[in-house]
Order: sequence, then C-alpha cells, then structure tokens
Amino acid sequence: MSNWHDIGTADDFNDGEALALVAGGQPVAVFRLGEDLFALRDLCTHGNARLSDGYIEDGCIECPLHQGLFDIKSGAARCLPVTEAVRSFPVRVVAGRVEIEVS
Ligand code: FES
Repeated sequence: MSNWHDIGTADDFNDGEALALVAGGQPVAVFRLGEDLFALRDLCTHGNARLSDGYIEDGCIECPLHQGLFDIKSGAARCLPVTEAVRSFPVRVVAGRVEIEVS
C-alpha cells in the first residue's frame, strides 16, 4: 500500500504560511517557502502546541507556546527549549498534485 497522500495542489498553499491538515492519521503542518513545500508533524516535541499556529521566520517555525524553533526543511531543533527534532515528512509533486509520505 502506498504511503503517499494527496494533499492538494501547490496553489492551495500560500508562500510564507503554514497549513494544518491530517494525512495518514497524523497531524501535519505544511509550509510553503517560495516554490518549495515542506511538511512537519504538527506537534511540538516540547509540549502540546501546534506548529501550524506558530510564526515563520528565516526558514524556521517558532512554537507558539514557548518560542522554541524548528528548521522547517529538516525538523531539526534550533533553539531552546526544544531539544528534540520534530518529524519531517517527504513531499513531492506528481502531475500537479502535492503528495506527502506518511507511514
Ligand atoms: Fe513548543 Fe514548549 S511547547 S516550545
């Protein structure tokens, strides 16, 4: 069974914004930076906060609860109090449809 999930077209995502959705039963935050799309698990690794409610700056997403930072491209923790990376999901575009791999 394929783990790739159709989440729409690139035009469904606005540059510099995050969109919350559910794919494969997981909460996912999808970010558009220019022409590129990235997907992270929509839950901070430090507490119960949705990264899709956070603030995007310089390629990072700032958690809305305690202002920890994650790299949008990799999910890596960039600033305390977060120390653990958030899961990053692969994104691809096939025939104009955006898909993310969630297993
Ligand atoms: Fe995200 Fe604390 S819950 S930094």
